[in-house]
Amino acid sequence: MSTELGRLIASRIALTGPISLADFMGEALGHPRLGYYRRAVPVGAAGDFTTAPEISQMFGELIGAWLAERWLAMGSPAQVRLVELGPGRGTLMADALRATASVPGFHAAIDLHLVDTNAPMREAQRNALSKHEPTWHERFDEVPAGPLLLVANEFFDALPVRQFHRTDKGWRERMVGLGDDGGLRLALAPGATPFASLLPEATVGAEAELCEAGRAIAAAIGARAREQGGWALIVDYGAESAGHAASLQAVRGHRGADILDRPGETDLSAHVDFAALAVAAGVPSFGPVSQGEFLRRLGILQRAETLKRRAAPEQARGIDAASARLIAPDQMGTLFRVLALGDGKSSPPAGFSDTRT
Ligand SMILES: C[S@@+](CC[C@H](N)C(=O)[O-])C[C@H]1O[C@@H](n2cnc3c(N)ncnc32)[C@H](O)[C@@H]1O
Repeated sequence: MSTELGRLIASRIALTGPISLADFMGEALGHPRLGYYRRAVPVGAAGDFTTAPEISQMFGELIGAWLAERWLAMGSPAQVRLVELGPGRGTLMADALRATASVPGFHAAIDLHLVDTNAPMREAQRNALSKHEPTWHERFDEVPAGPLLLVANEFFDALPVRQFHRTDKGWRERMVGLGDDGGLRLALAPGATPFASLLPEATVGAEAELCEAGRAIAAAIGARAREQGGWALIVDYGAESAGHAASLQAVRGHRGADILDRPGETDLSAHVDFAALAVAAGVPSFGPVSQGEFLRRLGILQRAETLKRRAAPEQARGIDAASARLIAPDQMGTLFRVLALGDGKSSPPAGFSDTRT
């Protein structure tokens, strides 16, 4: 059974030929009327997946402390564009701002900008953050000039990726075409790909992915940090250099699904290639370190103890369970990683090993 968007994509392919997986993902997530990230509220128990800020307030609080420390390291500019890419329900930013209310001068300097394409999500963000008077944008490059503090949690994994398979004739791009029954089917393009020079040396059978949209946004963030000063914190899942595998996956109702099944109603995401983002940004970068290591260094265990002192026994167990979920290696602690990009003028950021990469 297909969806209205699935039928639209199929008729486009019937008319103009197979499309790249990146084109398919762009339509499935971003179609102006029917795209998944235009109409669904996917985050939370009733949605398709849960994210770190929805697991515990400690996640946003510690990131708030990190951002406030970076503002001080930048010399406490009188105005700073505080930007979140893909803020979801606004929970991370609300926790970050609540935790930093007592940092002298920080809130007075903040001009809050939220980049999100999703109308129902924007409604949730408005409810969570209206007292901070955010401005919304469809794209990062609409954020006005000025010193920058940026955070993005599980944003880059939602950007379209191309996928490639190494055959005995070289790299071939994986495309979305039509099967005999008129349904969507994956198939390799018969000819050589113009992206081969961007792909690694690999043996026959290898897979690779390329996220052009992610690289372009990282380059824009890097240019802004270089020219106007600033820092960005990117949290997402993926290996240090994740371009060397086929990681694109589909999730619906907290369960795995087929990539091509029910476009517009299914979440699609791919591992983030942190090394590629750092290179594209072209500014000093720190990490990626694992989310577990980062949160420990920022003091999540101490924060949990403080919260537990005021908690009933059952709540205290919940706090322990949430911190384990965020930092344990077999939960989100290792798969998720944290990368910082900075202006190179201020001191190294907290949470990393002080070594620039
Ligand atoms: C996986 S959710 C993460 C939400 C939130 N950061 C959290 O941790 O709960 C991805 C977010 O990015 C937004 N988004 C996805 N693709 C986008 C795009 N191309 N441009 C702007 N926002 C996008 C979605 O609407 C959603 O708010």
